[in-house]
Amino acid sequence: MFETIAVVGATGAVGTLIRQMLEERELPYRKIKFLASQRSAGTTLTFKGQQHTVEELRPEAFEGVDLAIGSTPDEVAKEFAPWAVERNCVVVDESGYWRMDPKVPLVVPEVNPDAIENHQGLISSPNCSTTQMVVAMKPLYDASRIRRVVVSTYQATSGAGVKGQADLKNGTHAFLHGSAYKYEAFKHPIAFNLIPQIGSPKYQGYTSEEMKMVHETHKIFGDDSIRVCPTCIRVPVDNCHSESILVETERKITVAEARELFAAAPGIKLVDDLDAGKYPMPADCDGDDAVFIGRIREDLSSENGLAFWCVSDNLRKGAATNAVQIAELLIKTQAAV
Ligand SMILES: NC(=O)c1ccc[n+]([C@@H]2O[C@H](COP(=O)([O-])OP(=O)(O)OC[C@H]3O[C@@H](n4cnc5c(N)ncnc54)[C@H](OP(=O)(O)O)[C@@H]3O)[C@@H](O)[C@H]2O)c1
Repeated sequence: MFETIAVVGATGAVGTLIRQMLEERELPYRKIKFLASQRSAGTTLTFKGQQHTVEELRPEAFEGVDLAIGSTPDEVAKEFAPWAVERNCVVVDESGYWRMDPKVPLVVPEVNPDAIENHQGLISSPNCSTTQMVVAMKPLYDASRIRRVVVSTYQATSGAGVKGQADLKNGTHAFLHGSAYKYEAFKHPIAFNLIPQIGSPKYQGYTSEEMKMVHETHKIFGDDSIRVCPTCIRVPVDNCHSESILVETERKITVAEARELFAAAPGIKLVDDLDAGKYPMPADCDGDDAVFIGRIREDLSSENGLAFWCVSDNLRKGAATNAVQIAELLIKTQAAV
C-alpha cells in the first residue's frame, strides 16, 4: 500500500492516461496528488468523480509522497527525480533522461521484472517503440536467442504528446480547407504525409529515437550482442505505433512454433489470419493494453529469419500501462520481502 502517489506531468498525453489507468486498475494508495508546470498549476481535473487542483512541480511537493509516476520532458525529469528520491519517494519515470543510467533499472514487467529488485529509488520505463518490440521479442528470445533485429516503425502522432495530437487534427483540417497551419510538434507537415525522422541526428545517420531502440533493447535483455537496425517513421495515425519486425534467431523458429510462443506469452494478443483479412491495425488496438502481433511469416531471404507485424497503444503499453505495472510490481516485490 502506498500512502501518497504523485502523478507528475498529470496534464500531458501520457499523464492523462496514467490518471485513467489509476481509475481502472487496483493500485492501493490512500492519497493522490497531481503535479504539472506553473502553466497548469491551479487548474482542476476530475479523478474518480472528484475535483483535484493541479499543483506546481516543486521540491516540497514530494514531502510525504512515497510513489511518483513521472511523464514530463527529459529536462524536467532530470530535475525533479532527485527532489523526490531525496525525500524517500520512489520514482517511476517515463522520460528518456534516466533510462541508460547504470544505477537505474529499465523495466518492462513481461520481460525483465527481476531488474526492479536493486532499484535505488528511481526506475525507468522504456521508449514506447522499444517496449512493444521487446514484449514481442521475449518469447522468441527465450526459445532461441535472437541474434539480429531489423525493425521499421510507423509511429502515431500521440507519441509526440498533446502537441503532436493537435498537429494531426489541425493540420488535416487546414489541408482539407486549403488554409495555412503552423506545425508545433513536427518540422514537416504530417497530414497526408509521413516523416522519416523521429528525434535528432545521433549516430552514423541514425536518429536519437532509433538509437534508443538499440541501447534500450540491449539493457532490457542484458545482451549487447543483439544486433538491432531500426528505422523510425512518423505517420499520420492518431494513436498506436505499428512495427514491421524481422528477427533472426539462433535456431529456426517455424511460423507454427512462433504462433504458439506468441499465444502463450503474457501481454501479447495474436491476430493473424491473412486469408480472412485479420491482422492488427492501429484503429482496432487503440485503448487496449496488449501488444498485438500478426502477419507472421518465415523470412524468404535468410535461414533463421521470422517476419511479423506488431501494433500497440503507445500511450498505454508504450507508456502509462507499463509505468503502472511497474508500480504494481513494486507492491508485489515489497510484499514478498
Ligand atoms: N507520448 C508517448 O507515446 C510517450 C511514450 C513513452 C514515453 N513518453 C515520454 O513521456 C514524457 C511525457 O510525454 P507526453 O507525450 O505526455 O508529453 P506532453 O503531452 O507534452 O506532456 C508533458 C507533461 O509534462 C508537464 N511539464 C512540461 N514542462 C514542465 C515543467 N517545466 N514543470 C513541470 N511539468 C512540466 C506538462 O505540464 P503542462 O501541461 O503544465 O505544460 C505535461 O503535463 C516524455 O518524456 C515522453 O518522451 C511519451
